[in-house]
Amino acid sequence: MSNSKGEINVQKSLHVAVLAFPFGTHAAPLVSIVRKIAEEAPNVTFSFFSTKKSNATLFSSSDEFHLPNIKHYDVPDGLPEGYVPSGHPLEPIFRFIKAMPENYKIVVGEAVIETEKKITCFVTDAFYWFGADLADEMNAKWVPVWTAGPHALLTHFYTDLIREKFGNNKVDDVEKAKFLPGFPELEASDLPEGVIEDIDGPFGTMLHKMGQALPRATAVSINSFSTLHSIIENELNSKFKLLLNVGPFILTTPQRTISDEHDCLAWLNKHESFSVVYISFGSSIIPPPHELVALAESLEECGFPFLWAFRGNPEEQFPKGFIERTRARGKIVAWAPQMEILKHSSVGVCLTHSGWNSVLDCIVGGVPMISRPFFGDQKMNARMIESVWEIGVRVENGVLSKESILKGLELTMSSERGRFMRKNIVKLKESALEAVGENGTSAKNLNTLIQIVTR
Ligand SMILES: *[C@@H]1O[C@H](CO)[C@@H](O)[C@H](O)[C@H]1NC(C)=O
Ligand SMILES: *[C@@H]1O[C@H](CO)[C@@H](O)[C@H](O)[C@H]1NC(C)=O
Ligand SMILES: *[C@@H]1O[C@H](CO)[C@@H](O)[C@H](O)[C@H]1NC(C)=O
Repeated sequence: MSNSKGEINVQKSLHVAVLAFPFGTHAAPLVSIVRKIAEEAPNVTFSFFSTKKSNATLFSSSDEFHLPNIKHYDVPDGLPEGYVPSGHPLEPIFRFIKAMPENYKIVVGEAVIETEKKITCFVTDAFYWFGADLADEMNAKWVPVWTAGPHALLTHFYTDLIREKFGNNKVDDVEKAKFLPGFPELEASDLPEGVIEDIDGPFGTMLHKMGQALPRATAVSINSFSTLHSIIENELNSKFKLLLNVGPFILTTPQRTISDEHDCLAWLNKHESFSVVYISFGSSIIPPPHELVALAESLEECGFPFLWAFRGNPEEQFPKGFIERTRARGKIVAWAPQMEILKHSSVGVCLTHSGWNSVLDCIVGGVPMISRPFFGDQKMNARMIESVWEIGVRVENGVLSKESILKGLELTMSSERGRFMRKNIVKLKESALEAVGENGTSAKNLNTLIQIVTR
């Protein structure tokens, strides 16, 4: 940063509005990249907008990354006074989407009055297509942040064309997706919801508008690295004004100090290289009961040691006696320091829902995957893992059955192909490390991003 007087004055007048999508694992990566930027530009004002609930989980009072130039504002969540949950888990999300963008506009207006600084840049979750209009209205820049992978983003850009090709016929036909660069074996059923299924729903509508709006962005920033899939990167790059791969965020942004309250790492130390099966379906998914039973039975039968980060209640949800019978080689914990675990040499494979953050964790850890995708971009990630990068397999028929799990474990843990997958993922890991290292593409792009947002 140059320190001339004029420039400091300019920096003091800059006001960056950050608009987070307050559900799932969206807001946390946005917070980490914004912290990185805000840290580099202490004289620029950052206003962070999210719901009260999300704010409370993102910024705890004992925040080790507290930055004086980031201020949080609570955005109305769109729920009526005295709202009683209907039991439909997506309802709060749908109501929130319905309340956008008005709920943001009001609070952004308040922040402008309070700070006496007009917004000079909007950094938003890429979902927020209306960032393009807000930025136009306020003569500001717009930098959407896409927290998933480049391949999923491409399908949202090409949604109209994909709908045209597939028509009403949603049967799997890889020929139909051939026009999309970089997807050799894509099937209709791999596409995220909202592309050809459920197109008029809140997500379908939002993602469709997003795909149309992104070319208007000053720069599209993404949690990936440019060598991950060069064909798709080039395609996106040709569609947007500027595509900035600035990931993996886990390597380019400050990470919280991890706690290992259940002593997972000490437990891993007791095991041989590549011998442990690590299982996690992310922070919100619990597989249906029959799949949990199939998984427990497979773990009992396969004989591999396993470490399972399990969100539910093990006593209630596992087969009777399973925990006792596997105690000698199994460890089940409510929370696990995933990245540290995946970096540990004992871990041989990760059974995952293949959410993007977990896929990147596995790449950085160099651990092949068995995927059991559930929704969103997970199915497409699983397809890329198996068919494009060859760094893992999907469970057969997409569900956890005893047969499909045992087959996946045999393949990844004990076969020649499994060793090939490990080699491939270690190569990807090395290119990720190179990208974030000195003069690497992600490191350079991050500098460009900081310049765009804070100048
Ligand atoms: C921020 O502004 C102060 C003056 O108020 C200046 O001394 C400092 O160098 C500036 N920091 C950066 C990184 O520009
Ligand atoms: C956001 O949450 C933090 C932590 O709970 C709290 O200290 C802060 O006041 C909240 N911000 C607003 C604007 O409510
Ligand atoms: C990065 O680039 C600079 C300038 O070209 C060079 O001096 C330096 O050695 C490079 N660093 C690495 C790690 O390649």
